[in-house]
Amino acid sequence: MDFEKTVARTTLVEGGKIVVEVGGHSILLCRLQGEVLAVQNRCTHAGSRLESGLVEEGSIRCPLHGVRFDLRSGKCLNVRLGCAPLRCFTTRETGEYIEVEVEVEVAERQP
Ligand code: FES
Repeated sequence: MDFEKTVARTTLVEGGKIVVEVGGHSILLCRLQGEVLAVQNRCTHAGSRLESGLVEEGSIRCPLHGVRFDLRSGKCLNVRLGCAPLRCFTTRETGEYIEVEVEVEVAERQP
């Protein structure tokens, strides 16, 4: 696992969200209370992309059927449906950029 540079820190304002493609993953970044949270950009219910979902109270609501997921834990908040959690990614802000920790393809590591 390595941290990969994504977008400039200033690109993601408080309450905002943006999709980045990193290491073959489509990842949704959200800034909540100053913290950058990162989850897979694919709903575990039926595969809809989450980027146009509503962010509310630390969760994202899937735009297709409305399932909510906690953005910190990835946990599905609709107990009745019991969808699998979203995968969460570790982030950090270094210098001007937001970085996300992902697996790096072996081919990318070779000089
Ligand atoms: S695809 Fe997301 S709630 Fe159904």
